[in-house]
Amino acid sequence: MSLSGADSQPNDKLDSLRHEATSCRACPLWKNATQTVFGEGPADAEIMFVGEQPGDKEDLLGRPFVGPAGLLLDRALAEAGVDRGRVYVTNAVKHFKFEPRGKRRLHKRPNASEIKICRRWMAQEIQVIHPRLIVALGATAAQGLVERAIPVQSNRGKIFDVANGLRVLITIHPSALLRLRDEEERRSAYASFVSDLRSVERLAKAAARQAKSGVRAAGSIPR
Ligand code: URA
Repeated sequence: MSLSGADSQPNDKLDSLRHEATSCRACPLWKNATQTVFGEGPADAEIMFVGEQPGDKEDLLGRPFVGPAGLLLDRALAEAGVDRGRVYVTNAVKHFKFEPRGKRRLHKRPNASEIKICRRWMAQEIQVIHPRLIVALGATAAQGLVERAIPVQSNRGKIFDVANGLRVLITIHPSALLRLRDEEERRSAYASFVSDLRSVERLAKAAARQAKSGVRAAGSIPR
């Protein structure tokens, strides 16, 4: 896709992508999910957050990060001084993958093929928005963005330069914090998460300066 057409009406372009994605049947995950959960946020956002896939609540409401992990993300963003209203939030995979267990729907991690197939939507979101910085929340997002498995613990806080000058910051997924049982461990992991988030505005500004001086330009990831 050329960037020129997409640039003129980014909001319209995002709306039409969102609409197109509602009928995506490219992988089998649509069959059991309630709906496609597309990204949300301003089309001129400088920072994009990418999660794994919608959870139970997101699947029902049709919006990303509105369940327990989303509430924790909101809290951490607020503590880090990042306004959620100014960032674009999306997922690497746009349908909820789960296993029915009685009345409950248990989250199942998307596999490499599902991540790869769904990448077309994230790539187009990126192409429209041109974020200065993308924050990969956890391993699935990192894999979708960097196109290979990235161990999160040993790479968190690191920046990966992917295609066309895009910069990807790796951090943990907020669900990982919710799974920690030890209170002290959870407190310390949460503090590190907030610290990662504190760096995003600074990193995005640095990327904007570099792009302006022609050193680096934010672009798109290949589909
Ligand atoms: N976890 C994610 O990765 N994304 C959501 O939207 C919700 C939970």
